[in-house]
This record gives sequence, structure tokens and C-alpha cells, in this order.
Amino acid sequence: MADLSVQLASLELRNPLLSASGTFGHGLEMQFLSPPERLGGLVSKTVSLLPRRGNDNPRIYETEAGFLNSIGLENRGIESYLESTLAEVADADCVVFTNIGGEREEEFVELARRLEERDEVDALELNLSCPNVQGGKLPFGTDPATAESVLRRVRDVSTKPLFAKLSPNVTRIGDMARAVEAGGADGVTAVNTLLGMAVDWRRRAWRLATKQGGYSGVGIKPVALRCAWECANAVDIPVIGCGGIANAEDVLEFLAVGCAAVQVGTASFSDPGLLGRLAGEVSALLDEHDVASVRDFVGCMDRPRPAKV
Ligand code: FUM
Repeated sequence: MADLSVQLASLELRNPLLSASGTFGHGLEMQFLSPPERLGGLVSKTVSLLPRRGNDNPRIYETEAGFLNSIGLENRGIESYLESTLAEVADADCVVFTNIGGEREEEFVELARRLEERDEVDALELNLSCPNVQGGKLPFGTDPATAESVLRRVRDVSTKPLFAKLSPNVTRIGDMARAVEAGGADGVTAVNTLLGMAVDWRRRAWRLATKQGGYSGVGIKPVALRCAWECANAVDIPVIGCGGIANAEDVLEFLAVGCAAVQVGTASFSDPGLLGRLAGEVSALLDEHDVASVRDFVGCMDRPRPAKV
């Protein structure tokens, strides 16, 4: 059996399979379909300082190849997360990431400060890339200096491994990855959703109340794969690939271009048991191709091809 264990900064994961923020609840909502002991890690929905009711409906629209969302970071806020959700995940048998987000730098800093003493949280993922607040302006997601600055300030108050979730809505994502690395990030998640739009021309109606939203799912996989590869070649910290991953073949594609781990997002909505099955399926594929360990496989696209693969 192939060794699936991977290392993400100081974190040891039993396998490279994580949930993507916003697609798997906050805690253990999916545990009966995808038990934590079969995953590498769980990533929470974005937690903000204050509760947020999110954007008006409609805020989800299914497209031919994925879907558009404009949730607007609905969540109960850090108080509720600390009091209720963390009690739930305390015994989760996998690595726990809390995804944090805000509209101002100070909010990220305060969230990191509030989570610092909580041992239930193994790492923070900073959502620098939600396209559904401030009219899609992506204040932290498109300017390297701003992204570096928020990382630097969070680094000052947090000893936890920090992962920056980046936006694909930029010209050179490698520059963003380098900026967060310079700011003290321990890893990069590439990528969040692409800004998109859908209309019903017959009714002259927008499909989303906010007109534009984040596009995710199988349709974005080629874009996400390119972004993840670009990041992996730009920085020395680990990259977690995300975007359109829906089966074991997809997982291996992201690992092959240099990702140390992957997140499964939109595919979990139609198949919440997928994440729990993937380790077995990835392992079977690696065995079939005589690959003894995931760690040896990561980045193999940019290395000479082994005889049997
Ligand atoms: O609107 C949302 O809650 C989406 C968040 C994200 O894509 O980061």
C-alpha cells in the first residue's frame, strides 16, 4: 500500500485530502459520510469577527459545469465558533484548519489572536480571496503588498501554521504566492473561485442577487491546475491545490504539478461521501503504478518520467 502521509509545514497529515472551506460545514457535519479518520484535514467555512447574515437570495446558481455562489460569508461569528463549533471538533481525528476572513486587516489579526490559545485548531487558513464581499473587489486577493501586510500582522500574533487562500482572479498568481511567503505564510491554498456571472435573458433577470459571484466546480479545474503549478514553482512553502477536484485522477494531477495536498470542494455537494472514499482510490492508483509514496510523487511533472508511470 502506498504511503499517503504528507507534511504541510509543521503538520503531519495521514493523507493529502482536505475539505475546501465552505463546502463541508464548520465542523463535523459530514462525519457519517466522510469520517475525519479517513481525511488528512478539515477546513472550516470562513469565520468572521461578527456574525454575518450573508448576501440576499438567490445566491447559488448551478451551471453546466459547476456552480456560482454568492453566499457572502454567512456565519455565526467567532464567539459562537469558539463556544460551540470547537467543542464539536475537539476530538476530530484529523488536522483542523480554521478559515478566517474579514474586510479589514485588523479583523484578521483579531481573529488570529482569539484562536491562538485554542489547541483544537491546528492551523489557520486566511481567506484573502472571497469574491462575494465588497462587490467583488477582493481587497486582499489582488494586491501583493496588501496580502503580504495582512500575513505579516497575523504572523505577529499567531504561532499556528498560516495558509493563505489565494484568488485566481489575478494576472500573476505567482507574485501573490511570493508576497504571502514573504509575509510569513507557511503555505498557500490555490485557488478560490473565479469571478463569474449568469443571466436569464428571457426574464431579464440576474441569476444571483449580487449579479456576480464565485464560480467553482469541474469547469475551473484547468485554471486551478495552472494556478497551483504556478504557485508551486514560485515559492518554497507547500501548496494545497483546490478547484474542480472530483475524483482520484484529479487529485493525482494536482499532486503531479507540485501540490503537497489538495482540497475537495464543490464535488462534496453532490457526493458528500467522496472525500472519505478518495484515500482508498488514490492509494489504489499509486499501487497500480508502483509509486510507493505520495511524497515521492509530488511535483513529478517537472521531473524525468519514471519508467512505469
Ligand atoms: O460567499 C462566500 O461565502 C464565499 C466565500 C469564498 O469563496 O471564499
